[in-house]
Amino acid sequence: MTLTSAVDAAYLVAALLFLGALAGLSRHESARRGNLLGITGMALALVASVVLAVSTAERGALATLLLIAAAMSVGAVVGIWRARVVAMTGMPELVAILHSFVGVAAVLVGINTFLGEGYAGAAGVSQRIEIAAGVLIGAVTFTGSVVAWAKLSARMRSAPLVLPRRHLLNLVVVLASLAMSVWFVVTPSLPPLLVLALLALVLGAHLVASIGGGDMPVVVSMLNSYSGWAAAAAGFMLGNDLLIITGALVGSSGAILSWIMCKAMNRSFVSVIAGGFGADPVPGAGDDEEAGTHREVGAEGVAEMLRQARSVVITPGYGMAVAHAQHPVARLVERLGELGADVRFGIHPVAGRLPGHMNVLLAEARVPYDVVLGMDEINGDLASTDVVLVIGANDTVNPAAIEQPGSPIAGMPVLHVWEARDVVVFKRSMATGYAGVQNPLFFRDNTQMIFGDAKAKVEEILAALSP
Ligand code: TAP
Repeated sequence: MTLTSAVDAAYLVAALLFLGALAGLSRHESARRGNLLGITGMALALVASVVLAVSTAERGALATLLLIAAAMSVGAVVGIWRARVVAMTGMPELVAILHSFVGVAAVLVGINTFLGEGYAGAAGVSQRIEIAAGVLIGAVTFTGSVVAWAKLSARMRSAPLVLPRRHLLNLVVVLASLAMSVWFVVTPSLPPLLVLALLALVLGAHLVASIGGGDMPVVVSMLNSYSGWAAAAAGFMLGNDLLIITGALVGSSGAILSWIMCKAMNRSFVSVIAGGFGADPVPGAGDDEEAGTHREVGAEGVAEMLRQARSVVITPGYGMAVAHAQHPVARLVERLGELGADVRFGIHPVAGRLPGHMNVLLAEARVPYDVVLGMDEINGDLASTDVVLVIGANDTVNPAAIEQPGSPIAGMPVLHVWEARDVVVFKRSMATGYAGVQNPLFFRDNTQMIFGDAKAKVEEILAALSP
């Protein structure tokens, strides 16, 4: 067995382990095993790649090993530090910035491949196509992911950027990028490649900037898909089969996830990937001015309401995660059960900042699975519910999604909490939620607001309900 065939065999095993990882990650019960398979596959792939690089190095094995070790140490130190300190609520932005690294890597591999083999005249037409595709997809992924990171971490407004004639602008940039790609493939030289990279950088930033906050979950999974295709393109350029397979797996699974999310949120897939095409927001629909008068209630008042209630539904959102209120919420559920109420949770598919966010928090607080229902399971029961407690949720309970066709979140399925007899909304102010859209729920006759940190307020209610 030669070294190359041993590396190929290791790559094949790693690819199979990645497939096993994807299969495992698709279900709760097998997710841990899926992660272990993925880690094993990645470790194997890393060792095989380093061995191959070192043994075939032109500038000496030791120098190459030291270079790789230096780069990997910096990456490992930063990666381990970030992974240890990241809060659950910061996970989507971490994922977004990691996608940007894949994008920038594909651009650099593209330019480097050209500078090496292109200048030497060794790059054939197919390799030039690979270079152009890698640079294009990589650059779009890079700036798109940076903008997604900025929006998710509130460094940029989450409302869509609406430039005049923005779709025409996108079309012009796409056509100009194609023209540069053709120019580069026909007469390979650096200027068209660099202009292509520049255009794609602008395109990625603009595509994501013009998508509103409510659609961000889909954008993040779409960028995940792009990062996979960028990795696959890099794999072609580097002649690395494993990178091609892994990139294709990430690219296609990200695309499938985006598709599923679009269907769940009643969004057009094409509209989201084309930077909100066909979904121009109506002026004023997303402003955060108050739209009526609201009523306030204190912890004592909520406790009294809950004492009388026979059926209670809790719809948590991002604010519950920020406040770390899941443990007192779990105790509240217990206490209300002792008082004879039927208490259940209604979980919106995009409540919080990452898929399954609320389920993880509730599981951590040991809330029994059987009282945690999905949006479709609970919506039909809300009209016959005495009290709904909206704990730190906003966009996911916004009736504007149904009642205001011009709203940026129009058409997104929401929890119909307003159908209950009484609704109590826990939040700190009248501020809008992630999508930056005012919520008419707060001004309904059957809604009362309890202002303050959700954890502190739930604890006050618990104290008022204690025997
Ligand atoms: P949001 O619409 O973001 O609303 C959360 C509310 O919690 C805010 O209005 C905020 O109001 C309140 N809040 C924040 N900190 C609080 C605290 N310490 N105590 C009490 N309240 C607090 O949340 P949602 O209903 O869960 O909707 C999720 C949104 O995020 C959707 O627009 C969704 O599209 C988007 N998104 C979701 C994902 C995934 S996959 N889940 C990923 C990215 C984006 P105050 O500031 O007034 O307190």
